[in-house]
Amino acid sequence: MEKTVAVAIDGPAGAGKSSTARQVALELGMTYIDTGAMYRALTWLALEKEVSTRDEEGLHRLLKNMALELVTGTGTDRVIVDGTDVTEAIREPRVTAEVSYTAVHEKIRQAMVEKQRELASQGSVVMDGRDIGTAVLPDAELKFYLTASVEERAARRFAEEKKKGIPSELEQLKKEIAERDRIDSEREFAPLTKAEDAEEVDTTAMEFEEVVQFLINRIGSRVSAG
Ligand code: DC
Repeated sequence: MEKTVAVAIDGPAGAGKSSTARQVALELGMTYIDTGAMYRALTWLALEKEVSTRDEEGLHRLLKNMALELVTGTGTDRVIVDGTDVTEAIREPRVTAEVSYTAVHEKIRQAMVEKQRELASQGSVVMDGRDIGTAVLPDAELKFYLTASVEERAARRFAEEKKKGIPSELEQLKKEIAERDRIDSEREFAPLTKAEDAEEVDTTAMEFEEVVQFLINRIGSRVSAG
């Protein structure tokens, strides 16, 4: 690819954004940026330092001094906070339960968006999150909004957690996902919403590989046409 290209992927929790975006980026030789991991990393640090996720100033102080490294492109992405590998820790239920509260604060969002734009300016990227097409990269060449029914999203998360040996309950996961959707969609600053120019992809009845191929075809035709 001669020209740099930005692909924005947004959507609710558990719609398969991260795994799809990572695979698409890998196959197209682009850089994958998981913005949810950034909010999760700060939430993990807040739990470690016993700073409440409702405390905007406290979180902002932590964020200003936090050294965050996203190691990507190897197929096994790592997230490093102040030298500690937190890749697995940021997926723990205690972080998942708190992360939406971290993400409501305006100051935190502004600082994260700044970091995300800086990362995107370095080359062709596939970035996933909740506000990428609407707020972080409004001029992205391609925007997708990935969805799936809440039942399907809970079933996928259940299967993933089982594979990792994390005990969970399907009904409980469904409730948690619905609650996270609610907080992410109802918050005041950059709420989860489909960008007007994003293409909605309902993955409920699609296999993972099908979604990956669908996006790759779209990106490929757009890049060669442009
Ligand atoms: O995609 P994820 O589940 O790892 O995201 C974790 C939380 O972070 C999610 O509840 C909403 C928030 N988030 C956000 O507000 N904006 C983003 N760009 C990415 C994530």
